[in-house]
Parts: sequence; structure tokens; C-alpha cells
Amino acid sequence: MNKAIDASLLAQTAAHTPAHTPAMDAFWMPFTASRQFKSAPRLLAKAKDMHFWTPEGRQILDGIAGLWCVNAGHARPKIVEAVQKQVAELDYAPPFNMAHPKSFELAERLIQITPAGLNRVFFTNSGSESVDTALKMAVAYHRARGQGTRTRFIGRERGYHGVNFGGISVGGIVGNRKTFGPMLTGVDHLRHTYDPARNGYSRGVPLHGGPELAEDLERIVALHDASTIAAVIVEPVAGSTGVVLPPEGYLQRLREICDKHGILLIFDEVITGFGRLGAPFGATRFGVTPDLMTTAKGISNGTVPMGAVFARQAIHETLTNVDSAPHVIEFAHGYTYSGHPLACAAALATLDTYAEEGLLTRGAELESYFADALHALKGLPHVIDIRNIGLVGAVELAPLAGLPGKRAFDVFLQCFDLGVLVRTTGDTIAMSPPLIISKAQIDQLVGTLADVLKRG
Ligand SMILES: Cc1ncc(COP(=O)(O)O)c(C=O)c1O
Repeated sequence: MNKAIDASLLAQTAAHTPAHTPAMDAFWMPFTASRQFKSAPRLLAKAKDMHFWTPEGRQILDGIAGLWCVNAGHARPKIVEAVQKQVAELDYAPPFNMAHPKSFELAERLIQITPAGLNRVFFTNSGSESVDTALKMAVAYHRARGQGTRTRFIGRERGYHGVNFGGISVGGIVGNRKTFGPMLTGVDHLRHTYDPARNGYSRGVPLHGGPELAEDLERIVALHDASTIAAVIVEPVAGSTGVVLPPEGYLQRLREICDKHGILLIFDEVITGFGRLGAPFGATRFGVTPDLMTTAKGISNGTVPMGAVFARQAIHETLTNVDSAPHVIEFAHGYTYSGHPLACAAALATLDTYAEEGLLTRGAELESYFADALHALKGLPHVIDIRNIGLVGAVELAPLAGLPGKRAFDVFLQCFDLGVLVRTTGDTIAMSPPLIISKAQIDQLVGTLADVLKRG
């Protein structure tokens, strides 16, 4: 074992290691401190509503909706039933030059909840695929309109847009980029919007600096010229970088600058979509409509992998009303599993569940209760900032000298030992519970975190 791994981290979850753990050498785990994990595994064997259970039967409150995706809670009956029925009826249908009815039905249902104007839907299987699909659509759109010089993408520092080459190129998290060579060329980045000096401990949207941060786009346009820029891509609220909110007026100003220069605006709503911010989408919550919107996760409640890109009709029309023979494919892009029957069945049942239980706006009802609970942690040892919106919360801790990320990781392990699952990025603890969470469960989630933080 690597000596650099802190023995206390290894020991922490060892007490809960199941008696019969599977052999663990072959599985190359994604985004995991795998040496630590494999020395003291945290396995999950069962899930229902707000909880997981470990193989030995310990109940864990899910404070992060799986991975920001199980918005309606686990193993919801309608979704389970729909997937079971679908697999027996039509397990697979090829999506190229063929289709099955549920993909059309789902697209029609989805555009009833998207912001007006975003009424064309392209199915993918993940957030990363949605991002790369949207980037390709942007370049193809400009080219089809005779503006083939518009190939450049503008992302943002600290942005997370998945792990494919397009996504890491426009993304701005150094740890996800530095290992993988030059990536896409012709990419630039806006400044990030985290400004704790002026906006620390904001409740909801921070007040300061929005329009001026968005003006950074004018600097980039002046450097490269608008005629080289295809699209700007941002998360309305950045999640994976540790929950960073857009200050008041920021997204509106970005929209104006994009319009002024003929640049497409892409919102990456992979985590903000489907009710996370107390509204169906971030675009709905902030009243700013992008030209393309990437989604995944909550679209199918995490049950079957699925993603979708929503496009303005004009973009779809430009790319499909082409002057070629009818047998020619208009947009040469798609995945073997685009609109997979199981994913469509899961997504349709998910939309039913969201609608029946009012989940796409429930985050707005609980926002202030969640905010009160979170902001009561101010003053606990090592807490240096707290941020929240909808059912997203973040508590930022002062890093341990020379060991960035370790303090938060330690807190994550202790919370897990106490029966609560939270998530860490750097030294930020993030919470994004299923939208069915009760007030008592919010108390348990934040209270457990408080108990761990009080240990110092
Ligand atoms: C904003 C955003 N974009 C893209 C992705 C990538 O999604 P996936 O892991 O499904 O590829 C994520 C995942 O967390 C995300 O938060």
C-alpha cells in the first residue's frame, strides 16, 4: 500500500466493511481514490426513496441524489414498472434510419417543460455526450449558414462539462485537463464567478459583480474576433467545481453579449435540469433562454443512462433543411443507444412522477428551510463559506496545509460512518438530495454534517 495514504482515512470505513467483499482488482473505478476505497470499501446493495443500504444492512440517507441524478428518489414504483415492462416488450430498436414510438413521445413530452423556444430534442446517453453533441451542433450550424470560420468555443474557468475531449476542453477544472494533452484547439475561458470576498455566505444568488464578470466575454471577443467564435458554454450553477452560483445579472448579460456578436449560448443543465434549482431548468429559474441546452441525469431519474440536447427550432431547421437528395443523412451524428427504449420508458415514467408529485418546483418550497439549516453551520470549525440555491447546498472548508481536499474527504468518510452520504470536490462538501426529501431528513443531513464538523 502507498505510504502517502493517511492511515486514519483507511481505518475510518473499515469498521463497516462487509464480511464478504468481492475481488476488487479488475474493476478500474471512475473518479475514485481507489487505493483508499479498495482498502476500506463503501458498497451499496439496495436503495429505496431517500435511502441506500449497505450489503450488511446499514441504512444511508442519500444526501446527493445518487450523483445529482435520482431527483425523484430511488426505486420509484412507476419507473421500476415501466422499465420492467419495456425490457420484456422491446429491449432495443436501432435509432439510425429506424425508430420506436416512445422516443417521439418522450421528445414531445419534454418540450412541454423546457423554456419556450427550446423545442427540438436530440437524445444521448450521458452528460458528456450531450455536451459534445451541443458543441458539434454549434459549429455545424454556423457552417451551414456560411459562417464556417466560427469554430472557437468559450468555456469558463472551474466549469465541468463531462469527461470527453470536447467537454474537458471547454471545462475549467485543472485536475481533469492537465493529464490529457492539448485537447481541442481554439478554446478560451471566461473568468469563473466565485468571489468570496464580496459574495461569501450568500443565501441564494450572490448580489455582486454579475454584469462585470459577464463583460469578460467582450474581452475575449476583442481578442479573437466574433467571426471565429461558435459558442459560449456555461453551467447556470456550476456543481462539480464545488457549487458556484451566477451573481445577479450575470447570465442575462452573457445572453446580451452573445446576441450582439451572433454567438450561440449553451447552458449545460446536466445537474441544474429537472427541478434541482426549484424550477424545471436553470434557464427557467433565471429567466434566460440559451440556444442549446444539455441535460442528462434527472431526465431518467438515473435509472437508465440517458441525456438530451434541446435546441432552438431554427438550429434544427438550419441543420436539417438541406439542399440534398432525401436519402442523404442531414446531421452525421448519433449514438447506438440514442433514445434507447428502456431509457425512454424510464424517462416517461420519471416525468409522470415529477408531475404527480410537483417535484420540479418542490425545491423552491424547501429552499429557505434548507438554506436556514445550512447557514446555521457558519462559525463551526474550518467553515469558510456556505452557498445554496434550490436543493443544492455547499459548505466550504479551509484546506489542510499542503493537503488540499483531505479535510473535506475526511468529513465525507465520517458522515458515511454516521449514515449520511454527502459529496466532496476539493474542500467543498456538496449536498443535492432527492427532491422528495422531508424537513426531518434535511435536519438529519445537515445535522450529521454539523456533528462531524464540531469534532474539529
Ligand atoms: C454540468 C455537467 N455537465 C456534464 C456532466 C457529465 O455528465 P456524465 O457524467 O453523465 O457524462 C456533468 C456531470 O456531473 C455535469 O455536472
